[in-house]
This record gives sequence, C-alpha cells and structure tokens, in this order.
Amino acid sequence: MKLSKRLQAIYDMVPNGVVADIGSDHGKLIISLFQNGIISKGYAIENKKGPYSRLVKAIEDSGCSDSIVPMFSDGISELPSDIDTIVIAGMGGFNIIEILKAHPLKLKNVRTIIVDAHNSIPEMRKQICYMGYIIADEDIVNDGGKYYEIIKFIAGECAYLDNNDFEFGPVLRKEKSLTFKEKYQSRIAEIDNLLSTKKLSGDRILDLDKEKERIRRVL
Ligand SMILES: C[S@@+](CC[C@H](N)C(=O)[O-])C[C@H]1O[C@@H](n2cnc3c(N)ncnc32)[C@H](O)[C@@H]1O
Repeated sequence: MKLSKRLQAIYDMVPNGVVADIGSDHGKLIISLFQNGIISKGYAIENKKGPYSRLVKAIEDSGCSDSIVPMFSDGISELPSDIDTIVIAGMGGFNIIEILKAHPLKLKNVRTIIVDAHNSIPEMRKQICYMGYIIADEDIVNDGGKYYEIIKFIAGECAYLDNNDFEFGPVLRKEKSLTFKEKYQSRIAEIDNLLSTKKLSGDRILDLDKEKERIRRVL
C-alpha cells in the first residue's frame, strides 16, 4: 500500500512492538505497519460510526484481522495494557492533548507517542513534555502543499526546553531542513502580505512583527 508523504513520515518513526492508532479512520497506517513486519500487533481505534465501519472493512480486506484489532471507543479510554506505542495523527493539537490527558493511567505502559497535529503544535509539545515525555525525534514534510510536523515522544524526564523549542521544535530548529526553511520563509511572505494589504489593529501588527522576528532568529 502506497502511503502519503505525511503517513510515510509517521510510519518511519514507529518502533517495533504493539501499536495503537487513535483516530485510525481508513486504517492505512496500521495495516502497512503490520504488513511490513514493523509491528507485531495493532489496535485501530475510532469513535465515529462511519470511519469505524470503513476501518473494520479495510482490516478485513487486508487479511490482517488476526493481528489488527478494531476498537470502537473514545481516545485512550479503553486502551489495552499491552500497547507500548500510540499514534495520534490528523487532528487538532488540543484534541490530542485532551485525548492523552483524559486517562493518564492508561499511559502507564506507553513508552512512545507519535503525533501529527493540524494546529496548536507548540502547546501540544509543551503539554506532552509536562506529562513525562521527551522529544526524541521530529520531521517536517510538505505533502500536497501543506506542511506537517511529526513529533516522536518517548517516556523520560522532561529535558529543559525554551519557548523556541516549543514553537519551532527542538530537533527541527537544529536540523533546519530545506522543508523547515521553506515553511517559515513562506510564513514570512504571508505575514508581509497581511501587513501590506489588510487593515489590522495595532496589537495584531505588533504580534505579526514579533512572530516575524522570532522566525528570522531561528532561520
Ligand atoms: C482526519 S482523520 C485522520 C485519520 C488518520 N489518523 C490520518 O492521520 O490520516 C481523524 C480521525 O480521528 C477520529 N477521532 C477524532 N477524535 C477521536 C477520539 N477521541 N477517539 C477516537 N477517534 C477519534 C475521527 O473520527 C477521524 O476518523
């Protein structure tokens, strides 16, 4: 199964073991991980009827029903205890934080959390670090003209991170990949365009100027 660039970047971070994909939808990621021998067992979790039915069918069609268990449940509320890695992708950052914080005891055996949030990424980095995880790896991809940041957390004492780390990612801002630079150069162009074409309040102009300055210092 050919994965999108975004799903491939997530796939590349998944360690061997037992994995739960929360908000699995089409099930492509978990099915590929199992079919290619990356994981020994998978749980595909969905809380909405339409996607759940699609998921059950995709797992049946893949012939992996013995090793991938579809679960109709909310987030990690019924997370089985044999899971050591969870993936939560394709959702808003606050939704991801809410899912993780709702049942902290369920994370007892979870060593790795891989996330791909649409938004609120700095706050998500901060909150997951405060939950007892450190950022072990990050990647940024441009998939169909949109930038996605994939973050891998592993259980461990929270390392010191400053606001630049939360905003730009401790790994990403060190690596400064071409895609990272492109993302923030295009954000600067977007800000310049806003400043020159829109009627904005003084506070908004100040915020945009500050954002531009933070980006310039990181690039
Ligand atoms: C946009 S899709 C992303 C699918 C896939 N993870 C990906 O990245 O391509 C988000 C999925 O998460 C599911 N979802 C949202 N909140 C959830 C929750 N609390 N528990 C389980 N599934 C949830 C939605 O029903 C939807 O199918």
